Amino acid sequence: MGQRKRIYLSVPHMGPNEETYVLDAFRSNWLSTVGPNLEAFERDFSARMAGRHAVALASGTAGMHLGLRLLGVGEGDTVFCPSLTFVASVNPVTYLGAKPVFIDSDRASWNMDPSVLADALAEKARRNALPKAVIVVHLYGQSADMDPIMEACRRYDVPVLEDAAEAVGTLYKGRPAGTIAPLGVYSFNGNKIITTTSGGMLVSDNREWIDRARYWSQQAREPRVEYHHVDVGYNYRMSNVLAGIGRGQLEVLDERVAQRRAVAFRYRDAFADIDGIELMPQAGFGFHTNWLSCFLVDEGKLGVSRDALIAALSSEDIESRPVWKPMHMQPLFAQAERFGGDVSADLYTRGICLPSSSSMSVEDQQRVIDVLRAAVGRGR
Ligand SMILES: Cc1ncc(COP(=O)(O)O)c(C=O)c1O
Repeated sequence: MGQRKRIYLSVPHMGPNEETYVLDAFRSNWLSTVGPNLEAFERDFSARMAGRHAVALASGTAGMHLGLRLLGVGEGDTVFCPSLTFVASVNPVTYLGAKPVFIDSDRASWNMDPSVLADALAEKARRNALPKAVIVVHLYGQSADMDPIMEACRRYDVPVLEDAAEAVGTLYKGRPAGTIAPLGVYSFNGNKIITTTSGGMLVSDNREWIDRARYWSQQAREPRVEYHHVDVGYNYRMSNVLAGIGRGQLEVLDERVAQRRAVAFRYRDAFADIDGIELMPQAGFGFHTNWLSCFLVDEGKLGVSRDALIAALSSEDIESRPVWKPMHMQPLFAQAERFGGDVSADLYTRGICLPSSSSMSVEDQQRVIDVLRAAVGRGR
């Protein structure tokens, strides 16, 4: 038997030009956190994101941290966040000495439920305890329902930060996710739809904010010859080498989105005859990249649990993962306040993410499909 290779959840997928841009950085000796690749990557990304001002950073988490600081989040504040997300959405709230308050998901998008948010804001307004900010996350490449979310936040004058880490290429009513609120954050981590190995971008329609974030990202160094500091900063700037990878990746973004969607729809079609395994909804208000192909498992109908599927795939050297474990179920946030029901807990308990790489071959995907079908007694 030939050597069978492991199938991963989501791997980097380079285009034709990334190496050239990286080589340019070496040849020109721009091997630091300034240089032409950075300028070009920010300019090209901005053009892609409705002309928003943009600053390239070392990670999406850094973008969340700077974005929340721009909104004035600090000691003793509260920040609303969806419970169903990756911890990186919420950790920066803690860095700033604030406390997260968790909002449940809706079933139509798996993202923050606008009606739970509106009720939570109303209750907090009655108690004169409105949050300093609301973080909205666009999970797995699907936009949250931004219109009612923005409307509810406008009513109470609470600013919104979009965590679009997983939503590069996602649209909401034709507009790029991450450009609806005044601040948006993207991630180029190695598992994302496009990657710079590690990296992020903070965008805003407010140039002064982005200039300040850029200044903070470079140790808040004042523009003088001597080293002079009046403010606390961070070492958060992206490297010019990695920005070269970003330039090349941005050129193939549309292709990557089409490939990720094709993977998700191939799974959906392959399981169409099986009752009890269903692709994550594709909300009508958005364009879902299906960065990860996520399915909901109904053990009652399928006769097999989500965890049994993960184990069956793993025994065939195929990586799959549960959907994000909600923040309110994490020991880290055991004391946190929360609003809404148990939708996020249900999505976590029944949700599975299947291998979704844009570079995955049809043959490899068929292997995943065959193992999964066999595991539910529907092999052919
Ligand atoms: C929802 C979400 N927010 C934030 C991040 C943080 O991005 P990064 O890994 O680039 O710091 C990620 C990804 O890692 C994410 O999935």
